[in-house]
Amino acid sequence: MSHKTTVTLLEVAPRDGFQSIAEPLPTDEKIAVIEMLLDAGVTRMELGSFVSPKAIPQMADMAKIAEHFKGREGARLSVLVPNAKGASLALEAGYGDLVFVVSVSEPHNLNNVRQTVAQSLDQLRAIVSESGTDGEGIRVDLATAFDCPFAGTVPLDDVRRVFAEALEIAPKAEFALCDTTGRADPMTVARRFETAMAEGPTDAVWAFHGHDTFGMGVANALFAHSVGVCVIEGAAAGLGGCPFAPGATGNTASEDLHFAFEEGGIATGIDRAKLLAAADRVAALPGGKTASHLRIVPRQRALL
Ligand code: COA
Ligand code: ZN
Repeated sequence: MSHKTTVTLLEVAPRDGFQSIAEPLPTDEKIAVIEMLLDAGVTRMELGSFVSPKAIPQMADMAKIAEHFKGREGARLSVLVPNAKGASLALEAGYGDLVFVVSVSEPHNLNNVRQTVAQSLDQLRAIVSESGTDGEGIRVDLATAFDCPFAGTVPLDDVRRVFAEALEIAPKAEFALCDTTGRADPMTVARRFETAMAEGPTDAVWAFHGHDTFGMGVANALFAHSVGVCVIEGAAAGLGGCPFAPGATGNTASEDLHFAFEEGGIATGIDRAKLLAAADRVAALPGGKTASHLRIVPRQRALL
């Protein structure tokens, strides 16, 4: 089906959202939310990340969650990995659908995974060579592809260079441009995707990972989709926000993305009432910061 009439909403609340809650959530709560999202018809989701529990204690129960959903049919469930060790743990847990993250911005990569961009790309090389697949089944998240919390605007040429290097290592991978800080604007999102897409294989699958800090999340997603990005990431209830970046919000709310696409005739395959119910459950989690429009309008109007 053409990307003009459909979009895949990829749910990242269990990863980007849960990691933002200071006090780690009970594993059962996480599983209950993920089950509700699957029941709503979500077909792709990041279940969490195999990362150092010292760096991100919120993900210390990743193996338990992975075990619970292992082999689940009907949805592509992926796990984020920051290095080759994470990839080994994911494969041991039965997950080959990996999201490898590397930041375009050097200071952000150092801060996030304590490696230079070149070292991270070496990790990707090791993961790809281990899998023996040219990167098929791997998603590469190019974090800070627009703006960096430490260095400000990220030059487009840096995005092109890191993309080109990652593409050489993993020519069959799916790629995402990530607006990590939520400061990108719609026109820039469309232009950067057009540039990157023109420099990659014509059959590449592209994704957009956005945050809603400046209120541009839905518009950015629509502009990305309009130039051919068929995978759009969001988090139920807009869960997220970093305590070290005042004013920053979470990912764009999945339910707001659902409204924007479905009202325009672009099918998501997700049931809005069930998605809102899952978002309500997310919003009730202790310690979570949420931001969503659709969830707070009268429910009858949200469902019309
Ligand atoms: N999963 C679990 N444990 C891991 C790991 C992984 N992917 N990678 C490393 N570790 C463990 C090591 O085994 C080591 O354990 P030990 O102290 O018991 O010996 C410890 O973590 C430190 O390893 P080291 O290689 O020195 O890593 P580091 O301290 O430099 O941290 C990362 C690097 C990448 C592991 C860490 O910064 C991290 O997990 N970051 C995640 C960032 C993230 O998820 N951000 C949000 C998504 S964009
Ligand atoms: Zn993010």
